[in-house]
Amino acid sequence: MNVLAKDLKKQTELVERMADGTDQFRQRFHLMPVTGWLNDPNGLCMFQGVCHAFFQYSPFDAEGGLKLWGHCTSANMIDWRQEGAALYPDSPFDCHGVYSGNAFVEDGRMYLYYTGNVKLDGDYDYIHAGREGNTVLTVSGDGKTFGPKKLLMRNCDYPKSVTCHVRDPKVWKEGDRYYMIQGARTVEDRGTALLFVSSDRETWTYLRQVTTREKFGYMWECPEYMEIGGRKVLSASVQGLTGEAWKNRNVYQSGYFFVEGTILGDYRLSEYRLWDYGFDFYAPQSFRTEDGRLIQIGWMGMPDCPEHTNHTLADGWQHCFTFPREITEKDGMLLQSPVRELEEKKELVCTVRDRLCKEQGKTFEVGVKDITEAGFRAVLAEELVLEYREGCFRMYFLHTEKEGVSGGRSMRCADLPKLQEVKILADVSSVEVFLNGGEAVFSTRYYPNVYRVEAEAPGAELRFWNIQK
Ligand code: FRU
Repeated sequence: MNVLAKDLKKQTELVERMADGTDQFRQRFHLMPVTGWLNDPNGLCMFQGVCHAFFQYSPFDAEGGLKLWGHCTSANMIDWRQEGAALYPDSPFDCHGVYSGNAFVEDGRMYLYYTGNVKLDGDYDYIHAGREGNTVLTVSGDGKTFGPKKLLMRNCDYPKSVTCHVRDPKVWKEGDRYYMIQGARTVEDRGTALLFVSSDRETWTYLRQVTTREKFGYMWECPEYMEIGGRKVLSASVQGLTGEAWKNRNVYQSGYFFVEGTILGDYRLSEYRLWDYGFDFYAPQSFRTEDGRLIQIGWMGMPDCPEHTNHTLADGWQHCFTFPREITEKDGMLLQSPVRELEEKKELVCTVRDRLCKEQGKTFEVGVKDITEAGFRAVLAEELVLEYREGCFRMYFLHTEKEGVSGGRSMRCADLPKLQEVKILADVSSVEVFLNGGEAVFSTRYYPNVYRVEAEAPGAELRFWNIQK
């Protein structure tokens, strides 16, 4: 560890010790930072029987500053242990941020690939010049200590067709080859993914771009390529989508394309579908558990979004992860549901018909089954409305002032031909809503004064569980 890393480590530990951890909106079963700012999940993996979650972390600035990799571990993806920061921006090739990346586990070792961010001083546009996005590797044998950083690629190793915006490597293996995908912005301002190949995990050769036929946004971040129930899926967080379809949506989107064929050869991308229709969801990443489940975790936040805020800022922290979701495929659709480990934390309080009204605890789940034509409506904290009407599901706040429960959030919606089932998962300052077994999901942060739930679904069965934490 060099002197810069040593000092950053000391300072991080100091600010973490100073955080008193008693403020009212701290989450109980969602991963959040000890103090400061958190964004993307990084390096998610199961390693030697333990789940590791790293994250973009600015411990010194709750509004986002210099990025480190924070680190947590868990046996059940619910109770997280803070392990202290894992990677510091201590090298010339990552001095302005240890940006996002992934873990690849093989032969008892954890290979962490990430982007070393450098922003040069000068009069640059930081798109075509003035920025470095270096691809860096560090290896761990124990999941606690991380070996020397190795610079694998610089911008001159990427194709001429892309700008300086290249980042967020993810590595996987097919046959005896390793493949890496990275997000990028082309010189024509198109979002794309870059594909690389290697036979030793360290020497990488550029293969091709993977993108849509028509321009789809100007930048793709955090791409992933995975197989889910026999379907190939390309996930990307996209910036710069404009036009009618993207009105009244978040500034940036996270979604996926089904891939016909393979991105290593001939392929066709389907339409883009959103992972989540709520206000707070970006840069998701997935990994496989040892029992073979595909788990996705997203950042429950949104970059570059001055319209809304988070009341936790006053307490020196901002943002958290989404609750881990199992992703499965059914009848050509991807379904998302909270990891089954949650069942052990649930305590059934009541089962009723037609109508539910509860004010009991800050962490709970509401399940509504067999919803009839008569519809569904719920109000949380007397402010957050969840409503299904005329083939459209809406999540909206009754008051949209920044000082209120909503923090400035307004309305999000999604078309849904039929609503049969709703699952609402609420932590102290977040709500995630799963529709029809996870066909569509809405996530949001909220800052309640009262933890009351009222739900109406004539003819349906409604259940309320406390989540014990
Ligand atoms: C996505 C992102 C990544 C980048 C990281 C920096 O939210 O912009 O592309 O690596 O965050 O924190």
